[in-house]
Amino acid sequence: MMYGLLIFVGLLSFWMLYRNTGEQQLESHYVQEEVDTAPLSPEQIKLIQDSWALVLPIKVKAAELFYARLFELDPTAKALFKGKLDFQGDKLMTTISVVVDSLNDLESVVPILHAMGKRHIIYKVRAEQYDIVGAAFLWVLEQGLGDLFTKETKEAWTIAYGIIASVMLEAYSESDLD
Ligand code: HEM
Repeated sequence: MMYGLLIFVGLLSFWMLYRNTGEQQLESHYVQEEVDTAPLSPEQIKLIQDSWALVLPIKVKAAELFYARLFELDPTAKALFKGKLDFQGDKLMTTISVVVDSLNDLESVVPILHAMGKRHIIYKVRAEQYDIVGAAFLWVLEQGLGDLFTKETKEAWTIAYGIIASVMLEAYSESDLD
């Protein structure tokens, strides 16, 4: 009887700890009930597309800067990357380009971002790391664009990154990983 009770209390504590860990993983500014994929004005879309066109010619350097900044802000992130960073940087830039080209129809890239969110759970990326990646990414844009990274351009990019991160994070609140 006593042993039964001890096992029950043990299992209960384990379950509560497990639940808590799950909740902590969803701590991010970008977690939303429902993601609005059309909050950008035509002017903001133009600001993003024009500024991205200036970053693309220096995308290799931009990706290098991005990872350096990310690992500075979050040294724990480094251990998550198993492959070569230059190859990874290229995939990251390509994904951003696809999203930038689809800003007038973001619904069309939702399935891609959603699937990417699921893969990021497998890579063991935590929800709060989307905030850090967002900060590192905006910082790189600022370095690359200098004075052209105006308040309006920053605002537009902040919204765009927010949509990407929020859609990817939607996958985190679903338990199925099909
Ligand atoms: C807007 C957010 C993000 C975008 C667009 C993005 C993009 C990508 C892309 C395109 C890949 C290639 C593999 C795949 O498609 O599954 C990838 C892999 C990966 N990403 Fe992200 N990512 C984002 C957020 C994050 C965050 C927050 C982290 C956390 C530090 C992260 C860490 C990783 C890791 C560890 C891999 C696997 C790398 C490897 O296998 O070496 N990503 N990401």
